[in-house]
Amino acid sequence: MSEFHITRTLPEDAMAAALRADVQKGLTSDPKTLPPKWFYDARGSELFEQITELPEYYPTRAEREILAGRAAEIADALPARTLVELGSGSSEKTRHLIDALRRLHTYVPVDVSDTALEQAGRALVAERPGLNVHALIADFTAGLALPPSPGPRLLAFLGGTIGNLLPGERAEFLASVRALLSPGDALLLGTDLVKAEDVLVRAYDDAAGVTAAFNKNVLNVVNRELGADFDPDAFDHVALWDPANEWIEMRLRSRAEQTVKVPALDLAVHFAAGEELRTEVSAKFRKDRVSAELAAAGLELARWWTDGEERFALSLSVVV
Ligand SMILES: C[S@@+](CC[C@H](N)C(=O)[O-])C[C@H]1O[C@@H](n2cnc3c(N)ncnc32)[C@H](O)[C@@H]1O
Repeated sequence: MSEFHITRTLPEDAMAAALRADVQKGLTSDPKTLPPKWFYDARGSELFEQITELPEYYPTRAEREILAGRAAEIADALPARTLVELGSGSSEKTRHLIDALRRLHTYVPVDVSDTALEQAGRALVAERPGLNVHALIADFTAGLALPPSPGPRLLAFLGGTIGNLLPGERAEFLASVRALLSPGDALLLGTDLVKAEDVLVRAYDDAAGVTAAFNKNVLNVVNRELGADFDPDAFDHVALWDPANEWIEMRLRSRAEQTVKVPALDLAVHFAAGEELRTEVSAKFRKDRVSAELAAAGLELARWWTDGEERFALSLSVVV
């Protein structure tokens, strides 16, 4: 018999307090910023799923190609009994792994999006008799504690989501991941690779405008949760490549001078015409950097797979 549990490790008031703190800090900084985790309410998660199907958005297809081709090798390298997935979203690509891990006992998807976890978890237990799904509504950057489940554990972090963390945050995050692993466990990490600028920019600025709607959705979240009066149409979606940092930045550019009120924070935020609010970085990687960052966290890169066009990489690393 399969079982489905969903646990909120962060109480709703703690999530609300985190949003308030992030908005207060981000909108009073220069330049203004908001962290990408707040894109993902129910609408944001839906929009992200639409992004994964866009012709310009190659990362999902490239990573799926690797998972479909290499799942058996991954399962041979680590016949995990527990699969933990951070930022699992729809868990769609993960099915390749779940199918290949013959001894899998428990799948632990972790996400801030309760709607994505509910949908994915219920579908999985219905499809996979015998699989236990213990979903965690949690912030993977905020001291994660995992439910008890049999080892060995494979901890997957797919989709290139690690690139949304800034370098210092990434180092802290990888150290916290290392602390969750015991000898014999492994990390399966998806990283998008450095490539031609036009390919990268198109992936974050699609012709149909879905990424623009996703980007602006963070303003809807701040409006709903904090009573703000952002007009999403008063901002333009911007995606640009920063060659020095090797990351894409998504920004929202104010079309005109305007003041936005955030009543829950007693805040009035002034935007000059053309002023930009950074909503996401998406770092792109080279193998050396991935290996060095893993090593700094006490993890050793053991396997490295790419798709046929070398757009995306999956790596398996083990506890040193
Ligand atoms: C880029 S999407 C990737 C989704 C899926 N893994 C994929 O590969 O298609 C990032 C996912 O991570 C979740 N997420 C973002 N920041 C998070 C955080 N700090 N803690 C937990 N989940 C987070 C989002 O809700 C979203 O489902």
